[in-house]
Amino acid sequence: MNKKKILVPLGDKSYEVTLEAGILDNICEELLKIGITKKRKILVISNEEISNLYGEKLLNYFKDNNFQAHIFLIKPGESYKNLKTLTEIYDVAFEFGLDRNSVIIALGGGIVGDVSGFAAATWLRGIEYIQIPTTLLSMVDSSVGGKTAVNHPKGKNLIGAFHQPKAVFIDPETLKSLPKREFNAGMAEVIKYGVIQDKKLFEFLEIENNKNALINLTNEYLIEIINSSIKTKSFIVSQDEHEKGIRAILNYGHSFGHVIENLCGYGKYLHGEAISIGMNIAGKIAIEKGLWSQEELEKQKHLLESYDLPTEIPKINKEDVLTILMGDKKVRDGKMRFVLPKGIGEVDIYDDVEDSLFLKFFS
Ligand code: GLY
Repeated sequence: MNKKKILVPLGDKSYEVTLEAGILDNICEELLKIGITKKRKILVISNEEISNLYGEKLLNYFKDNNFQAHIFLIKPGESYKNLKTLTEIYDVAFEFGLDRNSVIIALGGGIVGDVSGFAAATWLRGIEYIQIPTTLLSMVDSSVGGKTAVNHPKGKNLIGAFHQPKAVFIDPETLKSLPKREFNAGMAEVIKYGVIQDKKLFEFLEIENNKNALINLTNEYLIEIINSSIKTKSFIVSQDEHEKGIRAILNYGHSFGHVIENLCGYGKYLHGEAISIGMNIAGKIAIEKGLWSQEELEKQKHLLESYDLPTEIPKINKEDVLTILMGDKKVRDGKMRFVLPKGIGEVDIYDDVEDSLFLKFFS
């Protein structure tokens, strides 16, 4: 069986990511292996669509195996990733009697994972939680690394905590029900790993045969790229859990991505699509600074576009771009910091990028 385990080494907060096609069908066994006994209450948090596909099945497994589980569905979409949804989760946690020994399971994409993780970080000053991501984006990025958050009206993920999951279980079979556009958006994060640290992954993604296998959701190929992506993420997070330094390179393409999501309205672009445009902008700034070649910029653009991702910069106002960038969490001591490529497989963090270098890309 093609089962992969990736350790996220964080001392007493270390955990494993288990990657296997069909693992959801063995979830009770997997939970018992990591100490989630039948005495411990489980609150599964999901949304209606994912619950219809996998949540009910999961609850039936729990029922058949005498686990005490309850499911709570949050509304889908970025606009519900807020304090109101969190309060609803706390109400359910109280009614269900979730105690310090209980566990939250996040079943879904990045929004479900981020909100559930923050609920777990804060309920009774912190309880254990498990990530079962069902989108490519959450598999390769948000389910690993312990960033949890809800949005504030003034900005994305402004209210949050670092709280590592107890374990992450990834079943690539769940990608079969993911809309193609969302799959492609997840590929933006996979390509990101290629550019920031993994040239071999970048080259793997460029090969036509591999691309076709991925687009056709061939498990073996999916496992290959998810495994590589998580290995890179684990390597970086284990060096800098709280993003004091190197972890910021995982935000490649994200500063401008957040600007685009914010100014174009959440919903016009999926997160991964905005990151794709953001990577193209970062790549252009790197040309201006003489960090990498036009050929490398074109390779990145071509790869993003070959997975049907947008790279064209939308028409947005310069002043608004500056306002959003200054409000971003990535500003430190009043200085904007940008992750820029030095070549395929290598990036660095720069805090000396003149405004004029990037504002020229906006109207
Ligand atoms: N998504 C970037 C990080 O986890 O640091």
